[in-house]
Amino acid sequence: MTVVEEIQKLKQEKNAVILAHYYVRPEIQDIADYIGDSFYLSKVAVGLKEQTIVFCGVSFMGESAKVLNPEKTVLMPDMHADCAMAHMADAKTIQKMRDTYEDLAVVCYINSTAELKTHSDVCVTSANAVKIVKALPNKNIFFIPDKNLAHFIAEQVPEKNFVYNEGYCPIHEHMQIEEIKAAKALHPAAEVLAHPECPKAVLAISDYVGSTSGIIDYATKSEKQEFIICTENGVRYKLEKDNPDKKFYFTETEPVCTDMKLITLEKVLHVLKTGENEVHLSKELRIDSRKPLEKMLELAK
Ligand code: 13P
Ligand code: SF4
Repeated sequence: MTVVEEIQKLKQEKNAVILAHYYVRPEIQDIADYIGDSFYLSKVAVGLKEQTIVFCGVSFMGESAKVLNPEKTVLMPDMHADCAMAHMADAKTIQKMRDTYEDLAVVCYINSTAELKTHSDVCVTSANAVKIVKALPNKNIFFIPDKNLAHFIAEQVPEKNFVYNEGYCPIHEHMQIEEIKAAKALHPAAEVLAHPECPKAVLAISDYVGSTSGIIDYATKSEKQEFIICTENGVRYKLEKDNPDKKFYFTETEPVCTDMKLITLEKVLHVLKTGENEVHLSKELRIDSRKPLEKMLELAK
């Protein structure tokens, strides 16, 4: 039996479901029951019928799935797959901001630890942040952890006062503007599609800015034939699969999230076989981090 066949067999036997983010390896995307961006996966995680969720992504994703499904078993193929940005804020600064600004909403990008979520009022993803921030009654917004996404949202919601945190995604932050310009010079007809985790200078030369799914949808629906993609290179698989006649280019230094790439078929098989790498969160952490996640799901409807 191949590894893939063994995974399919064990999935049935153990009543398990596989969720995967677009940044994981193509072979993992192929075995996933649900694949999407962070918002889609958080919606899917609610109301699954299977008892076990194997989450092919980084730790904050597994944590959120557990928080939304406390009675289910959530397994991570690799416990070391983490998101650097998820740790780039702290409770002390949040409290300082609450003491400084009246009428403050702490808006927490879902790419954050469960612990950070407990100090927040509402979660957002890159796909729903504008809608949610607009819907909040608060004038002052402390947006954590991502400064780039915060600036992108602030531009679209000028009626709010944004307070910025210094976090960033190392993969998107280090996207080289010169390399994007070089790709544009090579492919002048190509549109530039960027993720809002990219710095402002990158977004300024982009034709479209949106979440991972937003980029895939935009390119799929577009009548254009060529695109320069400014996000993690895992999206190439879905883009090329759904658009065999279109061309997708990345910057010369391809943006790779090495944590997402830690997930392999062998590791998925191993956790299905052994039940190892289960996500455990204290009851207090689960209850307190659930509130902002539920508020996000409510406001994003
Ligand atoms: P989205 O899934 O919201 O596009 O975010 C991208 C990302 O960096 C996930 O870790
Ligand atoms: Fe975190 Fe960036 Fe990797 Fe997404 S791509 S998981 S934001 S480090």
